[in-house]
Amino acid sequence: MVNVGHTVLFSADQIKDRVAGLAAEIRRGYPADTTLHLVAVLKGGFVFLADLARVLDCPVTIDFVAVSSYGAATRSTGPVRLRQDLHLPVRDRDVLIVEDIIDTGETLAWILEHLRAGGPRSLRTVAFLDKPSRRTLDIQADYVGFTIPDRFVVGYGLDHDERLRNLPYVAVLEPSDVTPTGETMTNTAPELSDPTS
Ligand code: IMP
Ligand code: MG
Repeated sequence: MVNVGHTVLFSADQIKDRVAGLAAEIRRGYPADTTLHLVAVLKGGFVFLADLARVLDCPVTIDFVAVSSYGAATRSTGPVRLRQDLHLPVRDRDVLIVEDIIDTGETLAWILEHLRAGGPRSLRTVAFLDKPSRRTLDIQADYVGFTIPDRFVVGYGLDHDERLRNLPYVAVLEPSDVTPTGETMTNTAPELSDPTS
């Protein structure tokens, strides 16, 4: 068995500290009486949303939007497609889009336009990870957890071919961990303990 995820980029403890820091930064950026409307981008944003929402020191409401992802490829595969729309109207809400990672920026650009059309009072973005070297559009998140180089990463919500989202840390997917067909060779629990802690 290949030890998928052995190259840890950010440990569970590092992530916890950074998410707490981000929450404080976000909180300072809004008036005291703000209720934040968190819109997580599925599927990758679900872990970050769960952690962020629990350390944000303000009332929150939560919704989800699902868009198409990379599938089995480690590169973007075309236009963004809406898989599941919002359940709540964003009108007059202070909306914070919660993204797992900004890569080319195509997904974020699409979601910003989609949500802006709903008439929110304010619209900002927090991205857990940012890969600025891969950008095809001139777009930034308002808040960023970690900036990373052009490597394909997994864990903490991020998948390769739908696997490895449940790793509690972020790891670089090594080419040797992927078969020639692009399939990830393991997705089992033994690697779930954080090797850096
Ligand atoms: P973008 O539209 O190119 O910015 O890509 C955004 C989406 O691509 C993210 O929400 C992820 O689902 C996926 N993605 C981009 N880079 C990675 C990566 O390194 N690992 C896993 N998923 C990624
Ligand atoms: Mg994905």
